[in-house]
Amino acid sequence: MMSSYPFVRAHQRIHKRLLLHFWRATLVLVGSAVSLSGRATYASSGALCQGQSDIGQLRRNDSLASHWLGNNRAVVETTRCPGTDRWDVVAESYGATPLIARLAKGLVEEVGIRPGESVVDLGTGTGLALLAAAQVPDAGPGVGVDRSLRMLQVAKERAAGIDSRGWVRADAGQLPFGDASFDVAVAASVWQFLGYSTAALAEWRRVLRPGGRLGLSVPGPDSSASLPVDLRAKYFSRLAPSVQDDLAARASAPMPDLVETVTAVGFSQATVTIRSWVDTLASAEDWWAIQWTHAVRFFLQGLDADSLELLKAEALERLECSATGEIVVTTKVLYCTAQR
Ligand SMILES: C[S@@+](CC[C@H](N)C(=O)[O-])C[C@H]1O[C@@H](n2cnc3c(N)ncnc32)[C@H](O)[C@@H]1O
Repeated sequence: MMSSYPFVRAHQRIHKRLLLHFWRATLVLVGSAVSLSGRATYASSGALCQGQSDIGQLRRNDSLASHWLGNNRAVVETTRCPGTDRWDVVAESYGATPLIARLAKGLVEEVGIRPGESVVDLGTGTGLALLAAAQVPDAGPGVGVDRSLRMLQVAKERAAGIDSRGWVRADAGQLPFGDASFDVAVAASVWQFLGYSTAALAEWRRVLRPGGRLGLSVPGPDSSASLPVDLRAKYFSRLAPSVQDDLAARASAPMPDLVETVTAVGFSQATVTIRSWVDTLASAEDWWAIQWTHAVRFFLQGLDADSLELLKAEALERLECSATGEIVVTTKVLYCTAQR
């Protein structure tokens, strides 16, 4: 309603104009962020807080969920991650082999996702677990979290056509979500990279609603799918000092007892299942190629050519051959599920 006082009318006009400018500027900013790079970038912690509260309401407000997370629209960045991440280099190849891809799918089966449940996939990588969760009939919304922007971009491409999946760039140990935001949290082959951190477990528990479920997986002992630990140790000293420091800083602590650790953080009904698979590969070269598709690559790419050749020869020597000359590979994984 227009006021009859000239001063108030002028004030109302200015206010309207300012509002118009504000919306135009907002549309231009959002449009350019999404169209230039396919992602919305939060440059200030204030904007990040806005994102946090929206994502926290995922289960309660569908329109917010579809704005931030639905239609597979954007990779939402937080400011906590550095520009590039070591995992970027394996983003295109990660999970290309079934040996690795099925590990995340197995976790989704173990945790048993029900229709409509919201899922957060911690260290989602190329989104293997989140995409498996999306196959559940009447699947609820889901968010994949990773520190590697490249991983998230690949995940987003692979999820094209699947609605209600969102991608958030953040550290899995410091999640930008409100308390009790999700029904299910999964972390496939990730916890070891956080040094089996109990603080991370507590963070994952925080974002689960009471009664919500956690599923995590870690590599089992004696898997022959990956480079033997003693060979890594043997060649470690040949890496450049800066690479050694980097790897040492990120080295996994010894794996703790899963049930005990998860229970100590406040989860209940923790159980562990060990699954193993035996595969045959056509040649030793196939096995070697797989090593370049996952974390072992960080180690391999730091070695000089001679060391690499020696290591390869030693590693291939140890592979088990079938009578027909194929390579027999055993993959083991531990699945731990628990309830908040
Ligand atoms: C072995 S991959 C597993 C990917 C996926 N969960 C799967 O099973 O296919 C580990 C993933 O964890 C991510 N990651 C490692 N440390 C992380 C951290 N502190 N915060 C978020 N993501 C992390 C890496 O970027 C990588 O994508």
